[in-house]
Amino acid sequence: MPHDFTTLCAAEIDNSTAYRLLCGIVVPRPIAWITTLSPQGVVNAAPFSSYNYVAHSPPMLAVNIGSRGGALKDTARNIEQGREFVVNVATLPHMDLMHQTSAEFPPEQSETEALGIALLPSRFVKPPRVAVAPAQMECRLREVVRLGELNTLYIGEVLAFHLSDHIFDGKNVDSVKMQPIARLGGPFYAALGEIFERPVLQTPPDRSQHLKD
Ligand SMILES: Cc1cc2nc3c(=O)[nH]c(=O)nc-3n(C[C@H](O)[C@H](O)[C@H](O)COP(=O)(O)O)c2cc1C
Repeated sequence: MPHDFTTLCAAEIDNSTAYRLLCGIVVPRPIAWITTLSPQGVVNAAPFSSYNYVAHSPPMLAVNIGSRGGALKDTARNIEQGREFVVNVATLPHMDLMHQTSAEFPPEQSETEALGIALLPSRFVKPPRVAVAPAQMECRLREVVRLGELNTLYIGEVLAFHLSDHIFDGKNVDSVKMQPIARLGGPFYAALGEIFERPVLQTPPDRSQHLKD
């Protein structure tokens, strides 16, 4: 049966409508549970789902952070000042803990301290890793791209991947065992659903390099 469509011109809708539509349509979104360090040494943690990987040679991640009341969020300010951050993968067993870190803690208060989140030192960057996350990526800031009036895209180069033995066999990450949690529109989260397998039809990025050599 054909669809009946509602068409909304972007020029005619307000910011919150655009936000609501994007968050409902672009799903499921992976969640970067980002740890940063303030110049005063306060460890900050907060979740961000406007996030993805954007390059693999070298590996890079991008996260979009919106402004809050015209000011940078703590994570954005710490990234701009320290030029380093850690992306911890948010998982089902720790969904509520991750969710609590989205509350508006003042910059001088550490979410990890207030919520008792155990940390591990990083190898190449100053911000620590979230110990319960089965995968953590240490990042150095590469690019800051201002997008319109409210958003900034931070692109970071991954300097190190830390992978728990529970999810990594030395070659592949077992995404099912990792139990990632995803963000939907509104107050909703989702876990991985049914998994489908199909043969890879294109040259995979990890083989195209060999073919060129
Ligand atoms: C699951 C989830 C995903 C979120 N994704 C984003 C995002 O992509 N960009 C953003 O600016 N805020 C996002 N937020 C809101 C921030 O987490 C929230 O503003 C937080 O207070 C920022 O903390 P900070 O000031 O310590 O950086 C998200 C919140 C949740 C719960």
